[in-house]
Amino acid sequence: MDNIYRLDEPSNLSSPALLIFIEIVRRNIGTMREMAGDAERLRPHVKTHKMPEMVRLLERSGIHKHKCATIAEAEMIARAGGRDVLLAYPLVGPNVRRFVQLAAGYPETVFRATVDDPQAARALSAESVAAGLARPIPTLVDLDVGMGRTGIDPARAVALGRHVADLPGLTLDGLHAYDGHQRDADRDARRRAAQGGIDAVFRVRDALRAEGVAVPRLVLGGTPTFPIHAALNADDVECSPGTCLLHDHGYGTKFPDLPFTPAALLLTRVISRPQRGRVCLDLGYKAVAADPAGDRVRLLGVDDAALGPQSEEHLVVLTGHTDELPPGTPLLAIPTHICPTCALHREALVVEGGKVVGRWEVAARDRSLGI
Ligand SMILES: Cc1ncc(COP(=O)(O)O)c(C=O)c1O
Repeated sequence: MDNIYRLDEPSNLSSPALLIFIEIVRRNIGTMREMAGDAERLRPHVKTHKMPEMVRLLERSGIHKHKCATIAEAEMIARAGGRDVLLAYPLVGPNVRRFVQLAAGYPETVFRATVDDPQAARALSAESVAAGLARPIPTLVDLDVGMGRTGIDPARAVALGRHVADLPGLTLDGLHAYDGHQRDADRDARRRAAQGGIDAVFRVRDALRAEGVAVPRLVLGGTPTFPIHAALNADDVECSPGTCLLHDHGYGTKFPDLPFTPAALLLTRVISRPQRGRVCLDLGYKAVAADPAGDRVRLLGVDDAALGPQSEEHLVVLTGHTDELPPGTPLLAIPTHICPTCALHREALVVEGGKVVGRWEVAARDRSLGI
């Protein structure tokens, strides 16, 4: 599969550099659409790329719903022309006001929020009312379906949903649940494990509806459970994978059932050959994410490569091929975890047909774009 990564003129490109193989991105988007059945059922997470041009590409592909984790990502989406943004992250402290400022500052975009706590819901409501927003903030109740990170216990979620529905300045917009802890390599085992969380979401939805409370949407999951949520026979479900747009070596090896191809690679170079059997690359953990533990990349073109120590700007590689790897040799590497890797780069070089055809800014790597 590795010859799908053609790069004709690496000699003019500084390294380390983030490369986006755009034909593969387009294919991944097509696969996402096919799996979801309808673009309306997709709400991809932008935290993977943080790039306005990628938002525009999704919009051109008919995908108009977006999910994000930071205020900067939300603002980036609105600036890029996205008109439907869900910020799936608890709003606390000054971020409550910043969120309301976003809603006021970009009136053509609908900004949806999540809450998992009555006090936080009241704070958002008060800020929304004080700002006199043209429309109430669509607010989803975030459920903890077993990950234990954020979200309310489903047993208490009906009361919170009712509370949100009654608060001025907010409307209940549905339920949100992220099941990133479902990581079984086998799809059927993953489906069985995820079913309890899905059932819990459906139970909360049905209980609210039975009380006459509208629950317009259920926003579920990330990439590993995407095929499972996409196959649910429920048209109120929106799937919110992020990683699969660019995909990476981590998910590629852990979840072989996922029909996506890594599309974002790193250009690196041999910078030193300190000893026989050992080269050093310019691929430290300021160029490729140090998360998770273990190998941070899969190096292409060096079949026996074993990754050695890594520091800020250096990655040692142990190989029997040092004779073929003089300093300056360009190499490509697939990141193990693409999302934090993108955030380490100010821009990505877009590669099409082996040529660099553009430079895309990773705009939302910053914490604030203005608001
Ligand atoms: C709340 C939320 N939704 C969706 C996603 C996307 O998940 P994935 O990276 O598996 O595509 C994430 C990832 O961290 C997340 O935190």
